[in-house]
Amino acid sequence: MTVSYKSLGLVNSREMFAKAVKGSYAIPAFNFNNMEQLQAIIKACVETNSPVILQVSKGAREYANQTLLRYMAEGAVQYAKEISNGVGIPIVLHLDHGDSFETCKNCIDMGFSSVMIDGSHYPYEKNIEVTKQVVDYAHQFDVTVEGELGILSGIEDDVVAARSIYTNPDDVIDFTNKTGVDSLAISIGTSHGANKFTPAQCTKDENGILIPPPLRFDILEEIEKRMPGFPIVLHGASSVPSDLIKIINENGGAIKDAVGIPEAQLRRAAASSVCKINIDSDGRLAMTAAIRQVFVTKPAEFDPRKYLGPAREALKELYKHKISDVLGSNGAA
Ligand code: G3H
Ligand code: 13P
Ligand code: ZN
Repeated sequence: MTVSYKSLGLVNSREMFAKAVKGSYAIPAFNFNNMEQLQAIIKACVETNSPVILQVSKGAREYANQTLLRYMAEGAVQYAKEISNGVGIPIVLHLDHGDSFETCKNCIDMGFSSVMIDGSHYPYEKNIEVTKQVVDYAHQFDVTVEGELGILSGIEDDVVAARSIYTNPDDVIDFTNKTGVDSLAISIGTSHGANKFTPAQCTKDENGILIPPPLRFDILEEIEKRMPGFPIVLHGASSVPSDLIKIINENGGAIKDAVGIPEAQLRRAAASSVCKINIDSDGRLAMTAAIRQVFVTKPAEFDPRKYLGPAREALKELYKHKISDVLGSNGAA
């Protein structure tokens, strides 16, 4: 039996994306694995009046249990209403990097309103086949589907890709026509994790901060020319703020050569047909920095609320910054 996401108060991404493309902003897609992350996401989005995509990865499903995460998302819909005088915000529950038809079907059946089928590691024809199979099933229940063309370098669940393969703009019309996907994740130079570029790929600014090579906006523009207004997704879009890396390393951490995507480039992407921007690593860094600070400054503290509470607050502030200063989805709920 399939649980309708509509009965849980969730929405799919269709209208959200159409508005975002038209309004030249991007919807935040934040990953969550636990209660504090979910509270921070919902509070940040309610306080900025932003729609949101709650992302559940394979790792999150293994860590926290997908049934529990699904019920937490249902709870999040009610929580958002409670803290906004009954108004609420549009919330999508999305499977991040679905690896097979079975995983996607399972999530659709339990009430997810959107799924990603990531066939990007398959040969092109096989990617089309598995993506179309997911779309055909999902659309029966009005669940939206994200596909991916091109390969991001870095770590994605258990898969490590040594180098990126940029999306070929000549493939996008054929792929979207043959599969019927609602949105498409593309590869234009972003990657997962906190080490998106090696120092050798970067230049240094006057303060010694590593500056990465720019994203391939020329590829994005070619894709936009071929499919004007089609919803494009950017994975691996954390900025890896150097102030967070500094706090972590000054408080016992050892994160080396961390480089992310400069926020100015994400602002430019958000103003284009990129309408969903995935951010996970920056949240992990914000939590880690806050927790490390508590452990160093208050070594006698052992109540988890005393370090998870500050981490949750730091996370909420980070998300509000992303929404209002980078993606521009504030006020769009
Ligand atoms: O795409 C990768 C996301 O950051 C999720 O990572 O599988 O470790 O939860 P995870
Ligand atoms: P980051 O690792 O850059 O946060 O990317 C997250 C992501 O793309 C999740 O799918
Ligand atoms: Zn991703």
